[in-house]
Amino acid sequence: MMGRGQGSMLAGLLLLLCACTAPAAANLNMSALCLTVPDGMFVSSQMDCSSYYHCQGATASLMSCSNGQYFNKDTQTCVASSQSTCASKSHPCLGKTVGSFQPDSSSCGGYWYCGDSGAIYGSCPTGENFNPTTMACVYAYQYACSQSVVDSSSGASPGVEVALNLCSLIENGFYFGSASDCSGWNYCQDNVLHSGTCQNGLVFNVNGKSCGYRSPSSCAQVTNDPSLTGAVAPTTCTTSGTMKNATACNQYYLCTGSSYTLMTCGSGLYFDTVSQTCVARMQARNDCDRCLGSTKSFVNAYSSSGCNQYLYCVNGAQKAVETCPDNYYFNEDAGSCVYETEPAFKCCNPDGLSGQPATTAAKTTTTATTTTTTATTKTPA
Ligand SMILES: *[C@@H]1O[C@H](CO)[C@@H](O)[C@H](O)[C@H]1NC(C)=O
Ligand SMILES: *[C@@H]1O[C@H](CO)[C@@H](O)[C@H](O)[C@H]1NC(C)=O
Repeated sequence: MMGRGQGSMLAGLLLLLCACTAPAAANLNMSALCLTVPDGMFVSSQMDCSSYYHCQGATASLMSCSNGQYFNKDTQTCVASSQSTCASKSHPCLGKTVGSFQPDSSSCGGYWYCGDSGAIYGSCPTGENFNPTTMACVYAYQYACSQSVVDSSSGASPGVEVALNLCSLIENGFYFGSASDCSGWNYCQDNVLHSGTCQNGLVFNVNGKSCGYRSPSSCAQVTNDPSLTGAVAPTTCTTSGTMKNATACNQYYLCTGSSYTLMTCGSGLYFDTVSQTCVARMQARNDCDRCLGSTKSFVNAYSSSGCNQYLYCVNGAQKAVETCPDNYYFNEDAGSCVYETEPAFKCCNPDGLSGQPATTAAKTTTTATTTTTTATTKTPA
């Protein structure tokens, strides 16, 4: 997808400093998930490869593999970590080969690259999903990872976000229930989710793994838990003129009458959530996806720890979070880390506080003003 090995030693240094933070993901409600699978089944944990859950009704009991083993959802057993397909959120590359890719179980397009210096988070370009079987970014129709995938930039459903890839947690090859529809069923094949509906008024029986007549205990799996159905923000509004931030920085929702309409800022402008207006990019206080819609390779990260962090973008998709050396701050307009005593860019410093206390040692030794080079981050084929 992109060239490799263009990086200099300096870029290698930047990668060493990589903060490697993944986008926040909704915590999965394991009780609600367990209700959709048969009693006695084991499901993976999103947080840690060596732990997993035993499901019995709405009771999810946390279990642990011993001896450094990882849980394998498809064999329903603990196996050597190298044989496991699990990607742990806290240590995604633990036990994995350097140079391999691991899926992010909480995002359809997210993945981890396991480099020499640890895990580096990346995202497939907009409209593509990460296929954990082939370890590649593919078009969403080729790998429909979740039933709740909605492209929020289309404006169809404000606030709807990708919840998770159910098939990274649930065993392949059997039918399980839907948290939002009593007649709905799901099925994972090669980690790809297939969904359907029982016909002729039948409902899905979770323990029978089949469609059947409704009984008094039917439909317990329908919890509409937002962590499973894809959290839905209200699509209706009451006060005309009210604004709400969108996924893309240059867009926002405007309440017109009783519903939100997706609006786009003028060229080069981003939506500022504080002043509720479109402003110059570097001044926009908006925790949005700053790579989305941008043609730049490097953009400021929004206030994770001041202006020293920045994002590496390829084709408008975030590939990595990187960090400037001490006393350097990222300046999106310059496209590089620059020496600055107190960066005033609101996009990465919304509280107006200095990003990092300066250290005198670094001050006396540093004279260069730009340090950013081409990135060495690798991407899936
Ligand atoms: C998780 O789901 C269960 C079953 O629907 C529900 O009773 C419980 O309140 C949920 N927990 C949270 C924290 O939402
Ligand atoms: C913007 O929207 C998202 C999702 O609704 C939210 O998490 C974020 O905190 C919002 N606010 C700002 C200041 O970006």
